[in-house]
Amino acid sequence: MIITIDGPAGAGKSTVAKALAQRLGFRFLDTGAMYRAVALAAMRRGLDGSQTDEIVALTGQIEVIVEEDGVLLDGDDVTAEIRTPEVTANTHWAADNPGVREQLVEWQRRIGESENIVSEGRDQGTVVFPDAQCKIFLTATPEERARRRARDLAARGETLSEAEVLAQQTQRDHRDQSRSCGPLVAAKDAVEVITDGLSQEEVVDRIAKLVP
Ligand code: DC
Repeated sequence: MIITIDGPAGAGKSTVAKALAQRLGFRFLDTGAMYRAVALAAMRRGLDGSQTDEIVALTGQIEVIVEEDGVLLDGDDVTAEIRTPEVTANTHWAADNPGVREQLVEWQRRIGESENIVSEGRDQGTVVFPDAQCKIFLTATPEERARRRARDLAARGETLSEAEVLAQQTQRDHRDQSRSCGPLVAAKDAVEVITDGLSQEEVVDRIAKLVP
């Protein structure tokens, strides 16, 4: 079975998808981590975002393993590095590149063919798994999302004000929603869950009830 959870940054997708997967005994798939790892690989090669063909070719050469507890790039543990502000800022190099998306969609489908998954991202219910049995669009108000992200960043020792986080988030939302390939949009048959004021457990309970 495939359950997709799409939605904007800061809606709580990762935490909720992970908890839901654990509850159901499914594999949790963090597809954003794949885009982040490709961007990091490009940075390590000294490429920049305008070198789109080189980044497509590079994607075909690297090995990215996304497991529940970590991410390996060519065998190197990059779990923490892919979450740094630098990599976050450059992840659009991968996410806006149709040739990269094509390959990552393939990676994701291959995993979905062999396992029960809760797959989290932006295009999981629309592009990658249009026939998924359960599709969720998880969201929250921009202010609530920025508050949560500022809290997460602070926990990692990076202090940014909520206003700064909100400004970056607005930019990222716009980029995610307006990319020509795999934009952030709710699938027509997705159920929207708004997480403002709900605890993680309440959100997971609500979604679990929607699983056929
Ligand atoms: O979920 P995240 O913040 O780790 O995602 C990082 C970036 O990758 C984000 O800007 C959107 C993009 N992304 C995407 O385009 N498609 C996905 N399936 C997952 C993430």
